[in-house]
Amino acid sequence: MSFKEQIITEKLPKHIAIIMDGNGRWATKQGKDRVFGHQYGVGAVRNAAEAAAELGVKYLTLYAFSTENWNRPQLEVDALMNLFLETIEQEFETLKKNNIRLHAIGDLESLPEENYNKLMSTIEKTNNHDRMTLTLAMSYSSRWEILDAVKKICAEQKDPSLPPQEITENYFKQKLTTAGMPDPELLIRTSGESRLSNFLLWQIAYSELYFTQKLWPEFEKEDLYEAIVDYQKRERRFGLTSQQIKS
Ligand code: IPE
Ligand code: IPE
Ligand code: MG
Repeated sequence: MSFKEQIITEKLPKHIAIIMDGNGRWATKQGKDRVFGHQYGVGAVRNAAEAAAELGVKYLTLYAFSTENWNRPQLEVDALMNLFLETIEQEFETLKKNNIRLHAIGDLESLPEENYNKLMSTIEKTNNHDRMTLTLAMSYSSRWEILDAVKKICAEQKDPSLPPQEITENYFKQKLTTAGMPDPELLIRTSGESRLSNFLLWQIAYSELYFTQKLWPEFEKEDLYEAIVDYQKRERRFGLTSQQIKS
């Protein structure tokens, strides 16, 4: 049976997050420049988005560029920014065809103006699509996001100030860039690295983590299905005992 056939529709994660890693190593293996790997990785993004939408996943969040990635060689950063611009423009048709809404999280104002404008106009144009929300994490890091949330709360502190007991988990969650989205049930990272690299640290408190050796440009629909099948075999206990979960 293929992995796709093994997926239990009723137990499908609502939200899948992916750390798309390994573009550079994939390119180096082919004797090519790292940027070639990023270009090739766009195909894997298209496949993952289509596969998730076809299955009925409601939210797919992709880590595309971290705040730390700004420190890469300028040539690579520039090439990535150009690639994002081109891709958002070219993939509008894919979004339309698949009824996918585009969304972005991160320090978006730090993006080049052209990128920011293109991103915002595409988000606007896909606003009425409702099959799945595809969120790109761009110039994103969790520590940036958490500090940003704290700053928003401080800025709201008027007289009389907000009593500390009103700063609940639910209140705080609404100040994060992912406000309104469910937490990811499943987090996938490609390329064999077993770390989180500053991604969605608050939101993945109880996510199931799935690490695969596949490099991002090699990641196919079947790999996404395999990760979902693996996820569905796990028992999510949220601090309870196995017996409590079963009864
Ligand atoms: C992930 O691939 C893409 C970005 C971080 C933009 P990498 O560029 O990190 O590829 P490796 O990890 O060097 O192979
Ligand atoms: C994480 O990948 C960021 C993205 C996938 C966008 P990195 O390749 O930047 O992470 P580290 O440096 O290996 O932790
Ligand atoms: Mg990497």
